[in-house]
Amino acid sequence: MTNLQSVKKFYLTTAIDYANGSPHIGHAYEKILADTIIRFKRLEGIECYFLTGLDEHGQKVAETAQKQSTLPQALCNRVADDFKNLCARLAVNYDDYIRTTEERHKVVVREVLQKLHDGGEIYRAEYAGLYSTRAERFVQEKDKIDGRWPDDIGEPIELKETNYFFRLSHYQGWLVDFLNKNQDFVVPAFRQKQVLEFLKEPINDLCISRPKSRLSWGIELPFDSEYVTYVWFDALVNYISAAGYGENRFEDYWPADYHIVGKDILVPAHSVYWPIMLHALEIPQPKHLFAHGWWLAKGGEKMSKSLGNSVQPLDYVDLYGADAFRFFLLREMIAGQDGNFSHDLFVSRYNGDLANDLGNLISRLTNMVGRYCSGKIPAPATEESLDQDIQESAQRLIQSVRMEYGKFAFHMGLEQIFDFVGRLNRYIEMRAPWQLAKQGDNSSVKLLNTTLSFVAKGVHIVAELLRPIMPKICVEILHRLGATITDTWENLSWATSLVGNEILSGEILFPKVEWGE
Ligand code: ME8
Ligand code: MG
Repeated sequence: MTNLQSVKKFYLTTAIDYANGSPHIGHAYEKILADTIIRFKRLEGIECYFLTGLDEHGQKVAETAQKQSTLPQALCNRVADDFKNLCARLAVNYDDYIRTTEERHKVVVREVLQKLHDGGEIYRAEYAGLYSTRAERFVQEKDKIDGRWPDDIGEPIELKETNYFFRLSHYQGWLVDFLNKNQDFVVPAFRQKQVLEFLKEPINDLCISRPKSRLSWGIELPFDSEYVTYVWFDALVNYISAAGYGENRFEDYWPADYHIVGKDILVPAHSVYWPIMLHALEIPQPKHLFAHGWWLAKGGEKMSKSLGNSVQPLDYVDLYGADAFRFFLLREMIAGQDGNFSHDLFVSRYNGDLANDLGNLISRLTNMVGRYCSGKIPAPATEESLDQDIQESAQRLIQSVRMEYGKFAFHMGLEQIFDFVGRLNRYIEMRAPWQLAKQGDNSSVKLLNTTLSFVAKGVHIVAELLRPIMPKICVEILHRLGATITDTWENLSWATSLVGNEILSGEILFPKVEWGE
């Protein structure tokens, strides 16, 4: 019997990037993190859907286009190419890329606005207040920190105009209650506390419109053609417009399992506006919001073009490859917290973990199997406690890495994998296969075979466990071992046999780099 029932997919989104600048390390990191989660889930046998995209409307995009003497849409098209190219170069395989100027998105935004307007959730009023162009929202004196406007708000301007407002304040009580009942809605937990902290003060209704006379680069309101909606009410809706809100297929995706966003857009946009918008529309809530931290320059300062301390992701990809860059970002940052990027740290991780430990392990294995076993992975012949230890730690490693990845603790998973790589290198040194080969007697040859067989198995498991993080190079390693590349980890275990496989040599996988490079 065919199963016609559709399966709810694991639906993961990233923030959609502003189309007013070029991609930087923060954009790269967020996409790499999301892509790694997706690759991991797929290896766990879960069907997935991975959405990312571009946030194209708003004042800043219009202003940037004007400065460059181009039309906003032309600017967006160029920026979309840059961001998609970044994804391709980083081996980030999204399933869908939504752009907020696409008709499929605008249709849903208009539908949602009309529904809320019909239900009395949106009203028209005059408002005078302080408006931040940088944060694209009205701000209040209480948003000042130590009496000054923080960086992400900038100097606001006084503004008095008639606009449309969404009854956010009406749902404040509901949201607090919802968060208290769903303690893991925002992950990590300390971020959920920040949301509740924010909700201790009364919140204002949300201004969702701009008169066209002031800004036309937005989506026209279906109930007043003199106005457009822009930024949050537009951008947040991408998560449902891309998933086919209003179509049957919507149920295959929604609710999203995770919205991955940076800490700066968690409160209030994703944790207050979005849940309330969904609630007012009677759409179920996403299962979780995951807020990651920020990459900071060495010494903890913010990266910025003007300070000259920003990192160009593609420079690193050009020099060291996407796999090494992905590895560094996930090894060095504890997902959820801030991390510091420095070139020295990059080089020392690259040379240490990748060149000396992993790269060297693989070339040793290849050389020894070539020299002592005619290039074919030998069968284990005898087992001593040293060999059993390797076998047991490999099996424990599989379990614990999968558990760490499941918690998005990629830095922990990687630490454990590289501990094991170190162990395999020490195992080789202790056994000294070159001496066993020289001795040449029956029991030495048996031990030699076991050692090389076990190292090959160990490398196989390491390459499998690294696949979500270093997808390209791991497939190459598996290929060199003659291992079958499977779609899932269902059969990933020490029991997989590689005996008799011809081992392929090839270029050095992680050539060592000089400090200054
Ligand atoms: O906020 N380190 O777009 P955006 C880590 N269009 N992450 C960083 C970072 C850094 N140094 N700098 C930025 C927007 N990010 C909106 C989103 S979603 C419906 C609309 C992250 O291009 C930032 O936290 O300014 C955000 O998650 C993402 O990059 C896009 O930022
Ligand atoms: Mg930003």
